[in-house]
Amino acid sequence: MKTKLFDKFAELFGSSEGARLYFSPGRVNLIGEHTDYNGGHVFPCALTLGTYGAARRRDDRLIHFYSMNLTSFGVVEVSLDDLSYQKSYNWANYPLGVVWAFSEKGYTLENGFDMVIWGNIPNGSGLSSSASLEVLTGVILRDLFGFDSLSMTDLALIGQYSENNFNGCNCGIMDQFAVAMGKKDNAIFLDTSTLNYEYAPIVLEDAKIIITNSKVKHSLVDSAYNDRRQECADALAALQKELDIKALGDLTPEVFEAHKGLITDPIQLKRAKHAVYENQRTIDAVAALKSGDIVKFGQLMNQSHISLRDDYEVSCEEIDVLVDLAWNIPGVVGSRITGGGFGGCTVSIVKNDAVDLFIESIGKAYQEKVGHEAEFYTVDVGDGASRIE
Ligand code: GLA
Repeated sequence: MKTKLFDKFAELFGSSEGARLYFSPGRVNLIGEHTDYNGGHVFPCALTLGTYGAARRRDDRLIHFYSMNLTSFGVVEVSLDDLSYQKSYNWANYPLGVVWAFSEKGYTLENGFDMVIWGNIPNGSGLSSSASLEVLTGVILRDLFGFDSLSMTDLALIGQYSENNFNGCNCGIMDQFAVAMGKKDNAIFLDTSTLNYEYAPIVLEDAKIIITNSKVKHSLVDSAYNDRRQECADALAALQKELDIKALGDLTPEVFEAHKGLITDPIQLKRAKHAVYENQRTIDAVAALKSGDIVKFGQLMNQSHISLRDDYEVSCEEIDVLVDLAWNIPGVVGSRITGGGFGGCTVSIVKNDAVDLFIESIGKAYQEKVGHEAEFYTVDVGDGASRIE
């Protein structure tokens, strides 16, 4: 990887002398979906798939971005004197957004830099290639310009800030946090209302985590995502007429059941129900994992999918096909949609001796039903973003 990136760096920018190498992972969420902007819990882990970057400071005020995955955009050149979003920058709006967010937060660059990236997170798969790139950029800026007071949590928050305010997706903190704080062989049990977190070792003994990529991404993603957020906010406002709560994540299912009559809109009621029960499922799932009860963990994953499909309505036909197929294979402990929804990936826990059957039979049946192939990745849980050299 180093050679490939540094050769390209030298070709584009004269030499690779003094350039540094960085890595930032993708993430998969095991359970706790659409809870992060409701003050609930999430349970994601960082992948060993991710984005590599080579970067070096410049003496002038120019920034150069180049992606070895999206070569048709060439070198995107931006001046520090105009950090505005430009459609033509395409992918480079993600790293640029982070430069902008740094300056908004008072971390202003005096000099520009050159940056070449290459990544192996499948595009549009819901495995957080954008959060990966944002946190990668954060780590690079902190390191190249000596902003040593910034913690990894700060870099996650800056990444989210740039995505919300520069790139226009109103996402929660889960993705950037998972990418920044990941730890090999552990998932992160994060309380999004306080950002308190705890690592939980993923001990599955005779099973593996498999990601299945539906290879579809429906176009309504961003608008539907923002609609869900609004519906939850409206449901919360209705509940706050009687309850002293800050977020849906403050409610147990029991308290919710006792007060849900305050929400008169049936859609808002379904959304709120998902947010409250999904938060409880996440807490229960982590307890199950800690006590070695993988079967329970799997059942909670399945319930999570049903809730996301029926109450939160963020699944889609192709994803439901994958999950239904998985549920019918003996040796599948649990399977659900993961990430924002409307396409992307499923995450499944599969017994080792059923993995071949899982990939073969789902691969074949999915192709027959949907008309194109699915892709499968066995998950290796890796560390968060860092300089690697
Ligand atoms: C996307 C967002 C996250 C989170 C998930 C759903 O990945 O970026 O903040 O809301 O959807 O759990």
